[in-house]
Amino acid sequence: MSTTPAVTLARRPAGTPRPDDFAVTDVPVGQPGPDEVLVAVSELSLDPYLRSVLGPGHLDEPAVPIGGVVPGRAIGRVMASRSASVTAGTWVLAETGWRARAVVPATSVRPFTVPDGVPPSAVLGALGMPGLTAYAALERHLVPRPGDTVVVSAATGGVGSVAGALVAAAGARPVAIVGTSEKAKDAVDVLGYRAAVVRTAPDWEAQLAEACPDGIDGYLHLADQPTLTGVVKQLAVGARVSLCGLMDQYNDGPRTVLDAGAVMTARAVVHGMVVYDHGDLASEHAAKVGELLASGDLVLHEERHAGLHRAPEAFARLMSGANRGKVVVEVTT
Ligand SMILES: NC(=O)c1ccc[n+]([C@@H]2O[C@H](COP(=O)([O-])OP(=O)(O)OC[C@H]3O[C@@H](n4cnc5c(N)ncnc54)[C@H](OP(=O)(O)O)[C@@H]3O)[C@@H](O)[C@H]2O)c1
Repeated sequence: MSTTPAVTLARRPAGTPRPDDFAVTDVPVGQPGPDEVLVAVSELSLDPYLRSVLGPGHLDEPAVPIGGVVPGRAIGRVMASRSASVTAGTWVLAETGWRARAVVPATSVRPFTVPDGVPPSAVLGALGMPGLTAYAALERHLVPRPGDTVVVSAATGGVGSVAGALVAAAGARPVAIVGTSEKAKDAVDVLGYRAAVVRTAPDWEAQLAEACPDGIDGYLHLADQPTLTGVVKQLAVGARVSLCGLMDQYNDGPRTVLDAGAVMTARAVVHGMVVYDHGDLASEHAAKVGELLASGDLVLHEERHAGLHRAPEAFARLMSGANRGKVVVEVTT
C-alpha cells in the first residue's frame, strides 16, 4: 500500500487551536474497492465547525480520535473509480479529510460545475455550505424587506461575505460588524456593505447605533458573546435574529447567552440555524449566488494558503479570527 501526505490531530486543542495541535505526516492510501473512488485533492476547505469535530464533537458526531486524520471537505479529481456512476477524471466535492489523496465511497462524492469565470473553489464557499448557510438564514429567518437594516457579524468571512451581497440584492441595507479596520475596509470597498463597525473598538456600540439609526431589523450572528449582547440592545421592533455561529463558545469559551429582556422589548423572533436542515434550498441558492457572482455583485473573498502543511496554521488563524475571507488550502503535493 502506498502513502499520502496528511494532517492528523496530535492533541485536543485547549481553547483556540494552535498549529502544534496537529501533525503533518504520511498515512496509507490504498486502491478503491467496489463502489469506491480515489480522489486527488486540489483544494481543501477550512471551516469553524471543524473546531467542534476536534473536540468535544460536532452535533451528534463523536470527536476525531487523537492520531486520526482531520476530517474536512475538499474539491478534487477522481483518479480511479470502481463505480459505474462516477468516472475517472471527474471533478468532485468530497469529504476527504486533510490529506492529498483519499479513497471514499462513490455515493459520497458530488460532481460539480461552476459558472464561466468562477473559480472551482467557489464550491467550497459561496456556492457551497457557507453560501447556503447565508442564503437559508436570509430566506428562512431574516427575510429582508426593501429598506430594512440587516447587520451581519464576521461579515467578511465565508458566510458573512455572501450574506452581505444577498441583503443588498434584496434591497435592504447590509451593515457589517468585523474584527479589524482592514476587514472594515474589505466589507465596504469589496463586499458592498453600506457601513462597517469594528467590534473591538471601545465605542463600537455607539458606532453601530450611528450606522443603524432606525434600529436593526435583521441580525445574522456569526461572532461572539459581546457582539451578540451589544447588537440585541439595538433591535428594532419586530426584528428577526438568526443564531448561526458562536465563535468564542467553540473555542471552549462559556456558553453563549441571550438577553431575554432585549428580545422581549423588540418583540423579536430568534431562530437557531443548522444548515443541514436547509438542503432543499440548494438549487435556488446555487442559481441566485451564481447570478450574483456572474454579475460581479458578489465578489469571491478568499484567504488562500499554499500547501497541505499550511493547514494547521491556517486553521489556527481562522479560529482566532485573523482570517480575511473564506479559508482555502491549495493541496499542491
Ligand atoms: N449554524 C450553521 O449551520 C453554520 C454553518 C456554517 C457556518 N456557521 C458558523 O458561521 C460562522 C462563520 O463561519 P465562516 O466559515 O464564515 O467563518 P469566518 O467568518 O470566515 O471566520 C470566523 C470569523 O469569526 C469572527 N469572530 C468573531 N468573534 C470571534 C472570536 N471571539 N474568536 C474568533 N473569531 C471570531 C472573526 O471575524 P471578525 O474578526 O471579522 O469578527 C473570524 O474571522 C462560524 O461561527 C461558523 O461556525 C454555522
